Amino acid sequence: LKILFVSSEVAPFAKTGGLADVAGSLPQAIKEEGHDIRVVMPQYRQIPWDYLQNLEHQLHFRTRVGWRDNYVGVNSLEREGVINYFIDNKNYFDRDSLYDNKDKHIQFAYFCRAVLEMLPKINFQPDIIHCNDWQTGPLSIMLKENYQTYDFYKDIKTVYTIHNLRYQGVFGKEVLDDVLALHSKYWDWGVVCHDDCINYMKMGIEMSDMITTVSKTYASEIKTPYFGEGLDYVLRMNADDLYGIVNGISYQENDPTSDNRIYANYSADNLSGKYENKRRLQEDMGLPIREDVPVISLISRLVEQKGLDLISAIVDELLQEDIQLIILGTGEYFYEEMFKDIGRRYPNKVAANIRYDSNLAQKIYAGSDIFLMPSKYEPCGLGQLFSLRYGTIPLVRETGGLNDTIKSYNEVTGEGNGFTFKNYNAHDMLYTIRRAINLYHQPELWDKLVRRAMSFDFSWNKSANEYIELYCRLLGINQEELD
Ligand code: GLC
Repeated sequence: LKILFVSSEVAPFAKTGGLADVAGSLPQAIKEEGHDIRVVMPQYRQIPWDYLQNLEHQLHFRTRVGWRDNYVGVNSLEREGVINYFIDNKNYFDRDSLYDNKDKHIQFAYFCRAVLEMLPKINFQPDIIHCNDWQTGPLSIMLKENYQTYDFYKDIKTVYTIHNLRYQGVFGKEVLDDVLALHSKYWDWGVVCHDDCINYMKMGIEMSDMITTVSKTYASEIKTPYFGEGLDYVLRMNADDLYGIVNGISYQENDPTSDNRIYANYSADNLSGKYENKRRLQEDMGLPIREDVPVISLISRLVEQKGLDLISAIVDELLQEDIQLIILGTGEYFYEEMFKDIGRRYPNKVAANIRYDSNLAQKIYAGSDIFLMPSKYEPCGLGQLFSLRYGTIPLVRETGGLNDTIKSYNEVTGEGNGFTFKNYNAHDMLYTIRRAINLYHQPELWDKLVRRAMSFDFSWNKSANEYIELYCRLLGINQEELD
């Protein structure tokens, strides 16, 4: 198959969240199954110079966004066997922020159009265009409305993956004509608007041939008003084309036996390196160096989604326990200040790192004992998968992908790979943390659980094949015929 994977962020080039991790590793896994999959993203100023200086200029042309006539440069770089294209336009992408721009509706409409128009020029005719989140929402409707009358485009099918339904790309009505240059019939039909606004997410859902999201549980949750972010009715109407495929992570890049970002390497057979990581982490964090105290960590965007108000409700109670708490992340001012404050009040127990630091993240995954993820909602969640891989026990709320990947430890049978709680309730969480602390102080059982956690396989292999199966179904071809 030939697939174009379209994403507004791709690790390691540019990242604000989990989408980048997915876009930076799923294509590699699909490629390994023998398919020609390529990736395209905007050429942001934020891309590290190491990559920028190695880009190869393919070609350039001009395209329109409404009445705007724009330059499009197409540059490319091969990484781990996959070709990445970068759409270059300084006016749109040489900015201080990836998404926090007043004209983001124009930036990403431009991106979608540039992607579609580059295809014949680079001579790549995909069977599938795979879009992700609101930034790529307009692509399917542009394809159907403006391009599919041309031979080159007429058989291309689209898949649209929802990574987070909360961020929808909501703009004024004038965008329909002024930016998307679409006929007003689309507004009248209701497929591009919600609540009297243009909605890029809804557009993607309504106009793509197939919709997926990043776990089975989230796929069913978003059909309900509580998780639907106002669009649950759209998802219920499109339920027949909605699939849930859980994310994986790269098991090569995240490998405790070879990762050179962590303090010492280790494996499930020899955990001594993990404890070395813990000591060095405590030292770096300015915490007392003690092997017998459980280190609980939280690595996250600091936003409401992540269940941080549960932590604020019980944090003083929690810190009566003999534990250490390590926080890493940035986000909303309120939560940043909340964690800084906790750090100041408990200097011997809490280390609050209010910044983005992917190397430190890796050290924390390796060096802590328990990984906290009490999300209010979580489409998939990757932190729990990284922590399993590094033998750190996830403690999560049973929602979305957390529900599909973490099974609660059963004291009787010894089964499970973490700790879970159901209700969005601070004391349910606190009770569960106490259960985990209690088990932590039974070293033999804890060691067994750590080894069990490390034996789970959340590499991309299985999920990549599920995507390929969906692509085939959409194209009406038998997967066996491919080989
Ligand atoms: C978003 C979601 C997260 C998911 C990620 C990748 O960041 O919030 O749950 O893991 O996308 O799909």
